[in-house]
Amino acid sequence: MPAKNPFDLSGQVAVITGSSRGIGRAAAEVMASLGAKVVVSSRKGDACEAVVGAIRDAGGEAMAIACNISRKEEVAALIEGTMRQWGRIDTLVCNAAVNPYFGPLARIPDEAFEKIMNSNVKSNLWLCNLALPLMAERGGGNAIIVASIGGLRGSTMLGAYGISKAADFQLARSLALEWGPKNIRINCVAPGLVKTDFARALWEDEARLKTLLETTPLRRIGEPDDIGDIVAFLASRAAAFITGTIIVADGGVTIA
Ligand SMILES: NC(=O)c1ccc[n+]([C@@H]2O[C@H](COP(=O)([O-])OP(=O)(O)OC[C@H]3O[C@@H](n4cnc5c(N)ncnc54)[C@H](OP(=O)(O)O)[C@@H]3O)[C@@H](O)[C@H]2O)c1
Repeated sequence: MPAKNPFDLSGQVAVITGSSRGIGRAAAEVMASLGAKVVVSSRKGDACEAVVGAIRDAGGEAMAIACNISRKEEVAALIEGTMRQWGRIDTLVCNAAVNPYFGPLARIPDEAFEKIMNSNVKSNLWLCNLALPLMAERGGGNAIIVASIGGLRGSTMLGAYGISKAADFQLARSLALEWGPKNIRINCVAPGLVKTDFARALWEDEARLKTLLETTPLRRIGEPDDIGDIVAFLASRAAAFITGTIIVADGGVTIA
């Protein structure tokens, strides 16, 4: 008899924030193709419905719940809506994040710093504090935070964003300790530059891109699927013994 595929996600329910495009969408599509029922979420319901339609056309199961991760009541409604419809959450993907400020920490306005920390760290804590107890009741589950290599290195222009992503690593480590005894795993993916709208200013700048590629061992920037596939792996039984860690996916940038 063939062994069960360790990457299979059949029967599982996954909630993915920021999944109307980019990395979140890639994660939603691959997870649905591996059998998960996925909740597609972002601020814009129409954009989420379009992704749901594409997943259904490909034979997968999905539903849309709009949610701005910076609003606690909408975060609660995302988790409640998933439970009402599908009765369980096996995987939570904290993917949505913001970066409203590009410049030195010396001049960052308080509002920008607070927005970055609230959306990129506090909302992930809200999501986990709502979803992980529900996983515990069912005997286990996992959460994946899409962080960034910006959390591993200093930066003259993206300092606050990097602080938020470093905080996400620490959030994952501490939650992994708190929830490990309940069979819940919490991990981070730390992408390098990925070709999405979020980082458009970085990869559209030809001079900047050329310099980056010269110092990237794999000589390319990431595609959304490069990261979505890792999210699906971390959600699967293949990653059953991995918790509290960071998978860096950056074409080798940080080891060069
Ligand atoms: N692209 C890169 O180079 C890169 C590198 C390292 C890490 N990352 C991380 O990867 C994650 C995903 O980024 P991406 O590159 O895939 O970006 P993206 O293509 O711009 O997609 C961002 C997604 O988040 C949603 N979103 C934005 N603000 C939101 C909010 N306040 N509440 C809920 N949803 C919101 C967007 O939809 P709506 O506009 O409809 O809300 C969209 O679905 C982020 O955590 C980012 O920090 C990206």
